[in-house]
Amino acid sequence: MKKFNNKIGQSRLRQKNEEQKTRKVINMAVFRKIGVLTSGGDAPGMNACVKAVVNKAISLGIEVIGVNGGYAGLIQGDLIPLTHNHVNNIVSKGGTVLYSSRCPEFKTEEGISRAVETCKKNHIDALICIGGDGTFRGATDMTLHGIPSIGLPGTIDNDITATDYTIGLDTCINTATRFIDQLCDTCESHARLNVVEVMGRDCGQVALYAAIASGAVAVAVPEVPFDEAAAIEKIRKLRASGKRSMIVVVSEGVFNPDGSKYGPTLTKKIEAETGVECKFACLAHVVRGGDPTVRDRVTATEMAVRAVELLVQGKSNLVMCELDGEIHPVDISFALIADRMYKNKLKDGDLEKFTSEEVAAMEALREKRTAEINRLYQVAQDVSF
Ligand code: ADP
Ligand code: F6P
Repeated sequence: MKKFNNKIGQSRLRQKNEEQKTRKVINMAVFRKIGVLTSGGDAPGMNACVKAVVNKAISLGIEVIGVNGGYAGLIQGDLIPLTHNHVNNIVSKGGTVLYSSRCPEFKTEEGISRAVETCKKNHIDALICIGGDGTFRGATDMTLHGIPSIGLPGTIDNDITATDYTIGLDTCINTATRFIDQLCDTCESHARLNVVEVMGRDCGQVALYAAIASGAVAVAVPEVPFDEAAAIEKIRKLRASGKRSMIVVVSEGVFNPDGSKYGPTLTKKIEAETGVECKFACLAHVVRGGDPTVRDRVTATEMAVRAVELLVQGKSNLVMCELDGEIHPVDISFALIADRMYKNKLKDGDLEKFTSEEVAAMEALREKRTAEINRLYQVAQDVSF
């Protein structure tokens, strides 16, 4: 694994050298003010990021400007200077005190120009952008337009291939499990089965962790073909053997062939074919709220502190990643293409600007993630009785 991390390290070095040829290195003496924003779907732990950015930056003599509402706030100039007092007592809170948005306008040249203009007008030298892959694309755009930016992975989905962990996952799976446990109580009383849909977009990790933690009898995720007939047969046998309450977890990224949601369909099929009374519950956004766990607060804090340090050292276009328990910066373009490779969505020419070592590092990440999903799926299968 050390070898694997070295490959990423080498690729970063090479990319850094290239970047230095094409962009002005920040003069540390004039680096006085940074902006921080939260963007895309909110995630528990985003506030811990904001607090750590503010406190670390101030300790280095840098002012921090909070951008309200993600890239939309950057376009509109919705800013608030942040002091220690502003971020007091937010580390324990869910959501994001800076608010969030999805901002299609930012994807346009005009939107980016207006965002850059806001930074220039307000003397914001650099940005820390907390969110998912869309947010990192925005961070790259800002860097390319002269505002060095670093991303922090804040999303419950854990769907960034370059990092083992994204801030918010732990809180999300604990919340999902707590609600499933409650469904289980009432299922036990009424001898019912509950199909539960959880978020996660294209990534089944939230569903897998929640299924294992709640003792689900089956789990359906986008990454692994779901053997519906085998699951229904198992449920029939379990009921015949006297099992009263049962849970089936379905990731929101699993669909019927016509594009409709699979969870409600599966619920009806199980009831029709086994005679077990079935209910369907979609946990939806409830798993995105709530006070962050210690894991999310600590990871958020460590990543944010490192991000501020790196910005001050003149580094940018990076996303902070956790690899085998350690925090490393990874080039955003590497991270985004690694994502595409993992999702089989590579476009012609995507790999051209990467060295063979970098491509090998991406392949290693793809294999690692695939193995992790398969391992979790197998564990869920092994205990589903
Ligand atoms: P997440 O960051 O959680 O993946 P989104 O994909 O919705 O969430 O992205 C958040 C925001 O990032 C978008 O609303 C948009 O403002 C910005 N963004 C997304 N994709 C791009 C892109 N290709 N170029 C520039 N900005 C983008
Ligand atoms: O990316 C986080 C996430 O919660 C996904 O799990 C989900 O698919 C999506 O965001 C929901 O987005 P919205 O809040 O816009 O409904």
